[in-house]
Amino acid sequence: MKLSVIGCGYLGAVHAAAMASIGHEVVGIDVDRRKIAALSGGEAPFFEPGLPEILADGIASGRLTFTTDMAAAAGAAVHFIAVGTPQQKDGNAADLTFVNAAVDALLPHLRPGDVVAGKSTVPVGTSADLAPRIEATGATLVWNPEFLREGWALQDTIDPDRIVVGVASGAAGERAADVLREVYHPAVARSIPFLVTDRPTAELVKVAANAFLATKISFINAMAEIAEVTGADVTQLADAIGHDARIGRRFLGAGIGFGGGCLPKDIRAFSARAEELGRGESVAFLREVDAINLRRRERAVQLVVAALGGTVFEKRVTVLGAAFKPHSDDIRDSPGLDVATQLRGLGALVTVTDPAAIDNARRTHPQLGFVTDRDEALTGADAVIVVTEWDEYRRELSPAHAAGLVAGRIVVDGRNCLDAAAWRAAGWEYYGMGRP
Ligand code: UGA
Repeated sequence: MKLSVIGCGYLGAVHAAAMASIGHEVVGIDVDRRKIAALSGGEAPFFEPGLPEILADGIASGRLTFTTDMAAAAGAAVHFIAVGTPQQKDGNAADLTFVNAAVDALLPHLRPGDVVAGKSTVPVGTSADLAPRIEATGATLVWNPEFLREGWALQDTIDPDRIVVGVASGAAGERAADVLREVYHPAVARSIPFLVTDRPTAELVKVAANAFLATKISFINAMAEIAEVTGADVTQLADAIGHDARIGRRFLGAGIGFGGGCLPKDIRAFSARAEELGRGESVAFLREVDAINLRRRERAVQLVVAALGGTVFEKRVTVLGAAFKPHSDDIRDSPGLDVATQLRGLGALVTVTDPAAIDNARRTHPQLGFVTDRDEALTGADAVIVVTEWDEYRRELSPAHAAGLVAGRIVVDGRNCLDAAAWRAAGWEYYGMGRP
């Protein structure tokens, strides 16, 4: 099928390349010339395992092209809207400027029978606002939310755990759902759940899923706070409750909490939308979820300060990690960089290292020191804090080796990812989050 993907950021670039890899003819469109130039040259503008390979394959096959010219969308059977919906500068709500601009630019190129599939994360009710404009052209609007995780984006796109398509009732909606079945034919053939809903449900599925994940993380972080005053161990607690299949162990990783371009902004936008709908109290708990999350960053800072005897002023602190999570170079709302910045604010001499995110972090956090080489970053440190659970720190860093580099054997494990017993055995003072 011929497809267009409007917006070539994280979501759009991955979607375009993944759709080409399953045999479609795809044009990716974006207003950012630099991004389009990079993608056209087969270069991924961000770190995502496997993306450079499928970009190169798609471009070489001739099935994948990128352009800034919206006219290239003409003739595609399905147009995916994959632009960003960031948090508004002066509030918590989602900023829909890019969605509206993409739709306006696309309108002149739509033909009767085309399907416009919204993938961006939007406040519930957005498709109802967009539909009249789109459907006046004879095209049909569906909402097809995306659940990909950074670092696993290709796998999540090609082999998702479910596909959700929200359609308007009637023949056009049913036909559009069939068109999307054809788009996702390999997944449909593998019987991956394909849920057809109404459009508000599909919009809500996405924000509800992210709100649930954020709540799960803050739940275990709240338990970490209780563990800290009772001498309990939150990681054992998580293992024990996680064995209950109704609860499940995944996303019960206590530590410095969630960040990134999705969970924080999505729970805030959801709260703002619920307020607009007169149902603010229904998701009032999300404010608490946000507050717990931010408190864990402060807790990590307090642990470093206490371990260094009450002040970090002019102490050398090495921060292992900058990305908001491993397998990513994304530093948007990175809890680790927030911790590093707070320590710097208290007068610490902070050195940050990360296997993928240093270039991005240096641009936004010029006040921090950055070192590419892990061992060089560790050399002479008075304390070390792990903020991103990269394998480079979790598995590959031997506590005995690290002990030989630092000035002070103090380690704060902001992700509860180190083997505490092994670090203690190598002479380290080990501090976890919510662990004795
Ligand atoms: C999240 C969702 O997981 C995806 O399903 C969704 O499609 C995506 O947002 C989106 O809306 O686009 P992502 O932002 O890539 O994906 O990151 P997650 O893997 O969800 O991790 C989010 C944050 O939670 C990270 O900072 C991670 O370190 C933290 N986290 C995760 C914990 O603190 N504890 C855990 O147990 C798990």
